[in-house]
Amino acid sequence: MPSISQRGVSMPASPIRKLVPLANKAKAKGTKVYHLNIGQPDLPTPEVAMDAIRHIDRKVLEYSPSEGILSFRQKLVKYYAKFNIQVTTDDIIVTTGGSEAVFFSFMACLDPGDELIVPEPAYANYMAFAISSGAVIKTIPSSIEEGFALPSVEQFEKLITPRTKAILICNPNNPTGYLYTQKEMDQIRDLVKKYDLFLFSDEVYREFCYTGAPYISAFHLKGIENNVVLVDSVSKRYSECGIRIGAIITKNQMVKENVMKWCQARLSPPLLGQIAAEASLDTPDDYMLDVYNEYVERRKFLIDGLNRIPGCYSPIPMGAFYTMAKLPVDDADKFCAWCLEKFEYEGQTVMMAPGSGFYTTPGLGKNEVRIAYVLNKEDLAKALMVLAKALEAYPGRTV
Ligand SMILES: Cc1ncc(COP(=O)(O)O)c(C=O)c1O
Repeated sequence: MPSISQRGVSMPASPIRKLVPLANKAKAKGTKVYHLNIGQPDLPTPEVAMDAIRHIDRKVLEYSPSEGILSFRQKLVKYYAKFNIQVTTDDIIVTTGGSEAVFFSFMACLDPGDELIVPEPAYANYMAFAISSGAVIKTIPSSIEEGFALPSVEQFEKLITPRTKAILICNPNNPTGYLYTQKEMDQIRDLVKKYDLFLFSDEVYREFCYTGAPYISAFHLKGIENNVVLVDSVSKRYSECGIRIGAIITKNQMVKENVMKWCQARLSPPLLGQIAAEASLDTPDDYMLDVYNEYVERRKFLIDGLNRIPGCYSPIPMGAFYTMAKLPVDDADKFCAWCLEKFEYEGQTVMMAPGSGFYTTPGLGKNEVRIAYVLNKEDLAKALMVLAKALEAYPGRTV
């Protein structure tokens, strides 16, 4: 038998999905599983997108241009302008989800062995795509005690070597819900300028900022326009994860040309997805407001509920729809698996993403879980009750 690749062996399992087999077993036994593990919103996709799919009037479902359909990119230019992000259609390359945008950005900008600095906890697929591209992720821990604020400039500078090529931020942040302040963004800008780095900025949650603090895009930072590679996606903002549409936005000509080689190799982003995504840009403001208000309520409900459970702690996330919560357990990986394998309360259990999968520093996140508040409040209430009961019963409880 030929051996499989070392690269494949070193790919981390998704902390969000790795417990799926246990969840399936629990469901097969008839247990109701509340999915707090995955950022799959339950809210309906905008009607304009559904209508666009229903009324497709084409004779051939053909390849679209590798960079994406022009009329879609033209509408995106107007969409970004609303956030004071001034770009042209040439600066936008449509991808198969934000996931492909991350992957192609890494492939186009980083050579094997190049280093990429990322504050952790971080969206786990960054590690997977870094391994795929041969890049080396260097993480700087941020801490739950400080609400996951940006680590200090000194901590960044300690990690900078001749191989450092980029900084990656996610703002608002998955998994922490943190929203970087102007001061923090200025610090990042200064580092990017001083060491001439790429700034990969994943801003797929820009619609979800809850505290009145401003959302600061990497494109708002002066003097590094050519260093910025912005990652975007329609998955979360229009509750349409399944259409697989994202984008890379950059003004850097060399990056665009290089990214396009991967885009051409994979031929085309999804045609049907682009039709839906283009229509989604006409989503009425009241839909967006309803969605926003719903998340505001769920956030309060979840965080209040978590902080009421003895031994649990969650900071208040400022954006996105996740929180990293600290639980009174010996090992969150074991606890999350135990909830699915060994526990049920009145026929129900919870599935959460163990915190360790969002860190690369060994030992970090051991008593943390990521919880997504993408369930309605009724289900969130039941999930919180089940979590409290599970913590009472868990043999590895610490306090
Ligand atoms: C921070 C972040 N970036 C990118 C993605 C990728 O999204 P998609 O590939 O669905 O567009 C996700 C999905 O959860 C995410 O949370």
